[in-house]
Amino acid sequence: MKTLLLIGMGPGDPEYLTLQAIDAIRRVDVFFMLEKEGRGKDELLQLRRAILSRCLGDKDYRVVTTTSPPRRRADEDYQEVVQVWHDEKRLIFERLIAEDLGDGQCGALLLWGDPSIYDQTVSLAADLAERSAGGLALEIVPGISSVQVLAARHKIPLNRVGESILVTTGRHAETCDPAEIGNAVVMLDFNASFQRFRGQDMDVYWGAYLGCPDETLVSGPVDEVTDVLLETRARLRAEKGWIMDTYLLRRRGGSE
Ligand SMILES: C[S@@+](CC[C@H](N)C(=O)[O-])C[C@H]1O[C@@H](n2cnc3c(N)ncnc32)[C@H](O)[C@@H]1O
Repeated sequence: MKTLLLIGMGPGDPEYLTLQAIDAIRRVDVFFMLEKEGRGKDELLQLRRAILSRCLGDKDYRVVTTTSPPRRRADEDYQEVVQVWHDEKRLIFERLIAEDLGDGQCGALLLWGDPSIYDQTVSLAADLAERSAGGLALEIVPGISSVQVLAARHKIPLNRVGESILVTTGRHAETCDPAEIGNAVVMLDFNASFQRFRGQDMDVYWGAYLGCPDETLVSGPVDEVTDVLLETRARLRAEKGWIMDTYLLRRRGGSE
């Protein structure tokens, strides 16, 4: 039997690893790392390696690095594009487990933040475990998400008393009816969709590179901070070559 651990690593800084994640990392024989092409590639791999060296010191372990398949642009059939991308990823995991993990060994992927939030690795791995007919055991170790770090940094709860929270994508924020939004955490926003929410009596709590050395925060009424946000986002992206940001949009007037 082989074991695959999906370990939530938090949003970058090793200080966000849970004790359970550290114990899990210490059980691992082989770490699988998928490199995404793009300008943040080296920095993101470096953060993972820093976590391993912090947890494992001189201990012997193997790292197998492979290229993550690029996702085609999803302008048209989004579901189909994502399906093809997931199928490609599943095949890569299958090959890594077959070729680079011995019987009785433990392999792991360090997943950014928490594995349950906008990361389908869990479904792909669960599928492989199910098809393995007992040959592959799967364990998931939860992590601290960028969403929790966003709230902690701005010193806010995500919802006010009795309210619900929507966690959604930039893709949805770009097209939804702004009137639907009470408290929305927006992730995977490549087009700065917060600007659509001007004139809506809303506040925004924004964070980039949360939990990382370049962490940057901006908050305030959407009407007042949108220009600052657009400028900050563009400047950071130009300086570093990549950006990772998340924000909470909140309609004013709920009970604190
Ligand atoms: C593929 S999702 C993965 C989310 C991850 N599972 C988590 O729990 O944070 C990637 C998106 O999460 C958000 N994100 C992840 N890490 C972040 C960070 N350190 N700072 C700001 N946003 C982050 C961004 O919206 C990014 O586009």
